[in-house]
Amino acid sequence: MTGTSADVSIGGKTIELPTRSGTIGPDVIDIGTLYKNTGAFTYDPGFTSTASCESKITYIDGDEGVLLHRGYPIEQLAEHGDFLEVCYLLLYGELPTKSQKDDFDYRVTHHTMVHEQMSKFFTGFRRDAHPMAVMCGVVGALSAFYHDSTDITDPHQRMVASLRMIAKMPTIAAMAYKYHIGQPFVYPKNDLDYASNFLRMCFAVPCEDYVVNPVLSRAMDRIFILHADHEQNASTSTVRLAGSSGANPFACIAAGIACLWGPAHGGANEAALNMLAEIGSVERIPEYVAKAKDKNDPFRLMGFGHRVYKNYDPRARIMQKTTHEVLGELGIKDDPMLEVAMELERIALTDEYFIEKKLYPNIDFYSGITLKALGFPTTMFTVLFALARTVGWIAQWNEMIEDPEQRIGRPRQLYIGAPKRDYLPVSKR
Ligand code: CMC
Repeated sequence: MTGTSADVSIGGKTIELPTRSGTIGPDVIDIGTLYKNTGAFTYDPGFTSTASCESKITYIDGDEGVLLHRGYPIEQLAEHGDFLEVCYLLLYGELPTKSQKDDFDYRVTHHTMVHEQMSKFFTGFRRDAHPMAVMCGVVGALSAFYHDSTDITDPHQRMVASLRMIAKMPTIAAMAYKYHIGQPFVYPKNDLDYASNFLRMCFAVPCEDYVVNPVLSRAMDRIFILHADHEQNASTSTVRLAGSSGANPFACIAAGIACLWGPAHGGANEAALNMLAEIGSVERIPEYVAKAKDKNDPFRLMGFGHRVYKNYDPRARIMQKTTHEVLGELGIKDDPMLEVAMELERIALTDEYFIEKKLYPNIDFYSGITLKALGFPTTMFTVLFALARTVGWIAQWNEMIEDPEQRIGRPRQLYIGAPKRDYLPVSKR
């Protein structure tokens, strides 16, 4: 790379490719003309060196452990903001004024109910269905209910669809939970804030009043903030790719939910808690650390490592603090899982294998313990991640639609299958 361009030589031919600089972060080599001029593709499975788009939403410096939304550090947003303020920031690019915030809160709050017919949808699922399976189906089905917000060429319809999804996701997530445990659905209550409303929809029952504990609702809100967006991760890239074909917004978010479910992505919080339960006691940690280091054993320490962070995940630090606040508020003094988690973290951070590979705890390491203490079963953990990440997906989807360079996403491949050959009738094979 020579400042503003990069030379590539293939088969004796050299071509000059332009580079582009962002506001911060590495430059990119624009390879858009490479195939036309050389007949070669680039090869980058897992996209470790490939920027798939321009974006103004989120910036991560994985080496330094920095996460910024629209320029604001996650630590400041989590400490001083609330989730709907972060939603506004991600969607519109600036922090809202007081009147903008009041108006946004009002608009989101008044979209929290779902079409009554949707409740019938839930009863089609088995009670023991994983709530993420239910989420994939029900969120995809929103496009069958809200026809007036599926025209993606109309900015107004796009914004209505966006607000609807931010507003309805807690209601749908709570319904998935209630259906799972066999309790009646609880309707949203619009004089509550976003997180309190969600906790009430999950934990209230018709026969008893439910008073939301402000410490727990603040913790829930902070968990939502920490999961709100994370630039071009697997599920966000899925949403962008699905959206690039012109698919409706609800279908794109359902695709994102499906991708998030995997244990290498959003499913890791569930997997991390299951792992801590399996380890069970501090004495057994060395056995599991040895398994994680064994090349012949597929076991990995869940909640450790990250494709981008090669330093402590800044969200994990805030999450760890929130975990202690929640356990303190609930009077849980000697939580065996927290004990295992803290000792595991200590050992891993001093172990040569983890140091050399730069494997630090990620957000999922502590979020499971907090969510369990809040009363959620492990099967709901990834659902809560999906709820919070919806705004990130939507902001990125909107940005993509408005991008004049946007085209349908269509990666190429290195074909390694059989070359052309002739069909043989079955009698001759
Ligand atoms: N435990 C033990 N070894 C690990 C771990 C782990 N958790 N993660 C990575 N490694 C090793 C891996 O075996 C490899 O070793 P080697 O170079 O000797 O083959 C090396 O570290 C690099 O791993 P990788 O799989 O090439 O890295 P990746 O960037 O493709 O994967 C990851 C990133 C997050 C999928 C992976 O670290 C992992 O599976 N972690 C556990 C699951 C997890 O916690 N996921 C949540 C991610 S944060 C929330 C989210 O984004 O959804």
